[in-house]
Amino acid sequence: MEQELINLQAQAKDQLAAVENGGQLENFRIRFLGRKGQFSTIMKGLGKVSKEDKPRLGQMANSIKKEIEALYDEKQQTLSTSIGASSADEGTIDLTLPGRKPQTGKLHPVTQIMNEVCSIFESLGFSVAEGPDVEHDHYNFEALNIPAHHPARDMHDTFYVSDSILLRTHTSPMQARIMETQQPPLRVIAPGKVYRCDSDITHTPMFHQVEGFLVDRDVSFADLKGVLTIFTQKMFDKELELRFRPSFFPFTEPSAEVDIACVMCGGSGCRVCKRTGWLEILGAGMIDPEVFKMVGYNPEVYSGFAFGLGIERIAMLKYGIDDIRLYYENDLRFLSQF
Ligand code: DAH
Repeated sequence: MEQELINLQAQAKDQLAAVENGGQLENFRIRFLGRKGQFSTIMKGLGKVSKEDKPRLGQMANSIKKEIEALYDEKQQTLSTSIGASSADEGTIDLTLPGRKPQTGKLHPVTQIMNEVCSIFESLGFSVAEGPDVEHDHYNFEALNIPAHHPARDMHDTFYVSDSILLRTHTSPMQARIMETQQPPLRVIAPGKVYRCDSDITHTPMFHQVEGFLVDRDVSFADLKGVLTIFTQKMFDKELELRFRPSFFPFTEPSAEVDIACVMCGGSGCRVCKRTGWLEILGAGMIDPEVFKMVGYNPEVYSGFAFGLGIERIAMLKYGIDDIRLYYENDLRFLSQF
């Protein structure tokens, strides 16, 4: 009987180890631990062993049975936690929840403003032209009446590629490029990237400008005022007063810097306009006769105006943002607001 018990113990352990699911476990229980199972059968045999052996064998049978029962409980536990885990996984799929939306991309706020500026001028009959970011000194400076050693070059903080090649510091070179190849009447805007070696809260080394110019017979400063008034009203969705301050640009004469009444306070004075009530938004003027001469236009016949505006600056004013660098940090928490 002792041997029988040892065999049964080994057999039960082997079989229990092979159990993989609840059904198999139940079969095991019936076969070994059930009322008619193998342990019961052996226990019944205890009645027939001699008095001396009975306590020892009884104890042995009991402890083996307890051992197998404990292993059985353990197995039941592991099976139910793994079943539980898979049903818990199923539980996380809540079919009533709305689906996860794929994240949709958006245009960068600077691109949005750029598109808006272009479409306003297109609605006024301007066509859009684009030119190279890597530019000749000739178009960036010479053709715009800024010869070598002209002090106005200092304003530009230019990135030079070589002595005569540079990253354009403004979009104005497009005036010369277009007038050189086309005859008036012209109504053109030229949007694009420009580069200056400058970086602080209101400057980034790369930023965007839109150049605009109109050339025809009898174009006057009043035409410039009219176009810019319509533009600012459409851009800021309100009738804003404009102020033209005398200024200097080598390629326009007379030249002006144009301010709009502060979009934040309406002109009464606030932090954004530094208590002046005005915000500078662009440079402009009547195209200098020297520029016309360089592209072969007769300044006695033609006149025109030009203007250049910074897109980031407009975007900052429109959205009330005081640090230009935010536009280029690519933080989605910032960008997704637009
Ligand atoms: N190119 C100038 C700049 O970047 C802006 C500018 C001023 C453009 C006057 C013009 C203009 O066309 O007439 O500072």
